Amino acid sequence: MTVPEGRSVTPTPVTSAAQLFDEQNIDHYRALVAAGVDRVVGQLVGRDRPFTGITPDRLAPEISAIDLDRPLGDPAAALDELERVYLRDAVYFHHPRYLAHLNCPVVIPALLGEAVLSAVNSSLDTWDQSAGGTLIERHLIDWTASRLGLGDAADGVFTSGGTQSNLHALLLAREEACRLREKEGFRRPEILPRLRILASECAHFSVTKAALLLGLGPDAVVAVPCDRDRRMLAGALARELDRCRRDDRVPMAVVATAGTTDFGSIDPLPEIAELCDRAGVWLHVDAAYGCGLLVSRRRHLLDGIGRADSVTVDYHKSFFQPVSSSAVLVRDRATLRHVTYHADYLNPAHSAEARIPNQVDKSLQTTRRFDALKLWLTLRIMGADGVGELFDAVVDRAAEAWTLLAEDPRFEVVARPQLSTLVFRYLPAEPAGVTPDAIDRANLHARAALAASGEALVAATVVDGRHYLKFTLLNPRTSVRDIAEVLDLIAGHARAHLGDRLVHA
Ligand SMILES: Cc1ncc(COP(=O)(O)O)c(C=O)c1O
Repeated sequence: MTVPEGRSVTPTPVTSAAQLFDEQNIDHYRALVAAGVDRVVGQLVGRDRPFTGITPDRLAPEISAIDLDRPLGDPAAALDELERVYLRDAVYFHHPRYLAHLNCPVVIPALLGEAVLSAVNSSLDTWDQSAGGTLIERHLIDWTASRLGLGDAADGVFTSGGTQSNLHALLLAREEACRLREKEGFRRPEILPRLRILASECAHFSVTKAALLLGLGPDAVVAVPCDRDRRMLAGALARELDRCRRDDRVPMAVVATAGTTDFGSIDPLPEIAELCDRAGVWLHVDAAYGCGLLVSRRRHLLDGIGRADSVTVDYHKSFFQPVSSSAVLVRDRATLRHVTYHADYLNPAHSAEARIPNQVDKSLQTTRRFDALKLWLTLRIMGADGVGELFDAVVDRAAEAWTLLAEDPRFEVVARPQLSTLVFRYLPAEPAGVTPDAIDRANLHARAALAASGEALVAATVVDGRHYLKFTLLNPRTSVRDIAEVLDLIAGHARAHLGDRLVHA
């Protein structure tokens, strides 16, 4: 059948069964999905900004007024409504002036995967719910493990995101630490409060969340200081490991970050791996962001990662995949047994004995999306080098943007990027008389004003107690000119704010 033109959608089927995805409803399926695609395309065409600047106050009444007990019936009407309450005002990551968080534009082969996987709707827990899906996911895990250099005993599983991957890895680390201490005669309640996770002060907050979920004490996460470039200081880590030993604490894991959220900085992996080896401590590398280097011409920046006990990779950050697409990998597949439970109704022990492959034995989740299919089609259609080319382009762009910022007297930029983030702030030409707090407020105002106009979106963070702005570049279509224009807008908003303030002081 042909894709409908314009807004027309096939008439609403009269029975509920006519909405089921099955052989009898093929025309309806095709037409409805095509209509949805058309509406999305409608948003791509001519969109000159990533956001409309909508506020929750304006949108909330429209959404809460919708009576979910009164279906519209007509798909075209439902899509009209969706345009009004979502599509029109959504934040569009594909736009070159979306420069805020770690959200990438997505590649079309992955969208094809998304369409296929949600229609077939495999669940990747057991073979009898996914069949080939299980093997495809396994092949992608093996491929990733081999790019990481984790060795022949490596394994892993797809997860919902970096937060879950970090939790999963740290759960395994906790179990390994407990296992060793239990052998020495300690009991779990004695061990848990003594466990420590050593992570850099720039590590992602999901590490702290994981510690909480894992029942560790409130002081469980030790923040290891970083150098000027926001890389963990290996010397400081060595001192913290010694301190743990002296204080009778048990270092359960060191978390190194390969691509910190704010600075894209990569901790010195070889030195950290060496320290972990010597101390017999589990090394987890959070490469949620930096994993794009696995396919880039800058792979060497991840040297040492193959010595990790576990690694987080977020394909939905730097492989241009739609959310969700992440994995946790381990060097020794035997450690995954810590999350293996057998249930008669799902994965009885005898099915493992019969060597029927399943992924639920390795996963924190049970029912689980076949997210791996998106990466599969991406690699099969455009190839790993194609993905790497896109990631290299944004890293190149960040280096150019750094030069721009470093040479611009209106701005102060914190660190030269290893990946694709830039942390900077507006500074007035003559700061005399302008308090640090006023500069903070001017930068916060500039960010908010920019978002309200929708012309560009940038992120914010705090460095040494002061407010900074942040670009996260993940769109190869973002040009240096885009960046220069956004900087002009920021400077304009910040200057205007300071001007107002001084006039009204
Ligand atoms: C370094 C790092 N680790 C972990 C995460 C968490 O990933 P997710 O948002 O996919 O849960 C992030 C998110 O930005 C991150 O930057």
